[in-house]
Amino acid sequence: MIHFSGYDDVINRIYGHRQEHVFKHWDELNDADKKHLLDDLKNIDLELMEKLYAGKPQDTAAFTPAPFIELPKTAEQKAAQAKAAQTGVEFIKKGLAAAFVVAGGQGSRLGCEGPKGMFPIAPISGKTLFQIHGEKILAYSRKYKTSIPWLVMTSVDNHDDTLDYFEKMNFFGLGKNDVFIFPQNMIPSLDTDGKLVLENPCSIFKNPDGHGGSLAALSGSGTLEKMKERGIRLISYFQVDNPLIKIIDPEFIGYHILYGADISSKAIPKAYPEEKVGVFVKFNNGRTGVVEYSDLPAEKTTQRGKNGELLYRAGNIAVHLFSLDFIESLTSEKKIALPFHTARKKLPVYAGEIEGFKFEKFIFDAITMTERSVIMETLREDEFAPVKNAAGVDSPETSQRLMIELHKKWLTQRGVSIPQRVSVIEISPLTAVAPEDIPSGLTVPNKEEVEL
Ligand code: UTP
Repeated sequence: MIHFSGYDDVINRIYGHRQEHVFKHWDELNDADKKHLLDDLKNIDLELMEKLYAGKPQDTAAFTPAPFIELPKTAEQKAAQAKAAQTGVEFIKKGLAAAFVVAGGQGSRLGCEGPKGMFPIAPISGKTLFQIHGEKILAYSRKYKTSIPWLVMTSVDNHDDTLDYFEKMNFFGLGKNDVFIFPQNMIPSLDTDGKLVLENPCSIFKNPDGHGGSLAALSGSGTLEKMKERGIRLISYFQVDNPLIKIIDPEFIGYHILYGADISSKAIPKAYPEEKVGVFVKFNNGRTGVVEYSDLPAEKTTQRGKNGELLYRAGNIAVHLFSLDFIESLTSEKKIALPFHTARKKLPVYAGEIEGFKFEKFIFDAITMTERSVIMETLREDEFAPVKNAAGVDSPETSQRLMIELHKKWLTQRGVSIPQRVSVIEISPLTAVAPEDIPSGLTVPNKEEVEL
C-alpha cells in the first residue's frame, strides 16, 4: 500500500474500493503530483461511482402524452396568449428575470476547438453563438428598460477560454456586473470494468456532469444566492447551440406566472416519428416528464390520434423557465438530486482511447420533481435551429438557412418588401429581437447579401 502523510483516509478508501490501480505511476511522481492525485481522489464519491456502474433498473413507468398549451387558433386562445404576453412584459420590466445559458458541453459532434459558444454562425457577419446571445440580452434589456443578468455555465475545460472571450468582446455591451460565468461540476468516467481511469499520471479522467448539473452549479457557485439578492425570481434556461432561441419570451414567461409553475418548457411538434428529440409525457403519478427518443417504444413513436397527428408529438427543445424558489428547493440541504444517465463512449484517457462509461444529468429530469409544470407549443421555424453536427442534420448550414428564413419572415410580416436578388439576410439582434422591433419604413437594399 502507498503512503503519504495526512492522506491515510483517502488511501484506505481507494484500496477498500479496489481502485488502487490509479497509483500505477506513483513511483514516478514528485510530492506535488502525489498530493495532486490524492486531492483529486479525495473529492470522488466512490460509493456513488459504484452505484452508477451497477446501474439501476430502467424506469418503466407507464405514461400518456402530456397536455400542452397549443398554438392559438381560436379567439379565446388568442386572448389567453395576449394576456400571457402582457403578464410577461410586466414581469420582465420589473427586472425579475435572468437569462441562463448552459455552455459546458464538449461539442464533440460539431468537432470545434474550444467553447462551442465561440463558433461563428451568423450568415454574413460571422457573429458567434455567444455574441448573438449576448446582443439579444442587451436588446431585451433596452427594450424592457431593465438590466437582465446573464448566467453562463462553462466546464472546467472551456472556462478560461470562455472568460477570455467575454473579456475580449467587452461582454457584448452588457455590464460586466450583469454577467456571471461559472463552471459546472465534473464526474469521473469509468472503464467497462467499473474502474476509475487516469487522465494523466496524477489526475483522474472526468467529464462534465451534464446539462442537468447546471442547477447544482448555479447553487454551488453562489450564483443562485446572488440572483436572490438581486430580486430575481425566474431563470430562463437555454442551450448555447441554438441561435434562434427567444431568450426572454414574454408570452412563455406570462404563462409560467399565470399557471404558478415551478418549471415550464417549450415544445415543438416532431417533424417525423423517428426524429431524435425527447417527447413530453405524463407519467402515471400525474407528473410531467420527458421520455428520450431512444426509450420511446416503437409503437408509441408512430402512434397517431384521431386527427392523424402523432400522439407523442410534443418534442422537447430544451428551453425551460425555472422559478428561483424551485431551484433553491432542489439544491438545498434536503436536496432531491437529479439522477445520472449512463452512456457508453470512447474515452481519450492517458493510456490511449478506451471504451467506457460517462455519466450525465439531464435538465429535463427536474420536470418530474414538481407537480407544477407547464408546456407551451411553439413554432420550430421561429425558435429552433440547433448546431449539433459538422454537416447534414442540425449543422451550421441548416442553422444558417433557418436564421435567414426567419429574418425574411419577420420582414414580410412587417410589410417590408425583399428584392428578388437578395439571397442572404441577417438581422442583428441589436436591430430586432422580434418582428415588431423592425423599424417601420425600413427598406431592403437590392443586393445579394443584406445585413440589417
Ligand atoms: P449536447 O447534449 O448537445 O452536448 O448539449 P454537446 O456537448 O454540446 O455536444 P456533443 O454531444 O459533445 O456533440 C446540449 C447543451 O447542453 C450543454 C451544451 O453546452 C449545450 O448547450 N451541456 C451539455 C453542458 O453545459 N454541460 C454538459 O455536461 C453537457
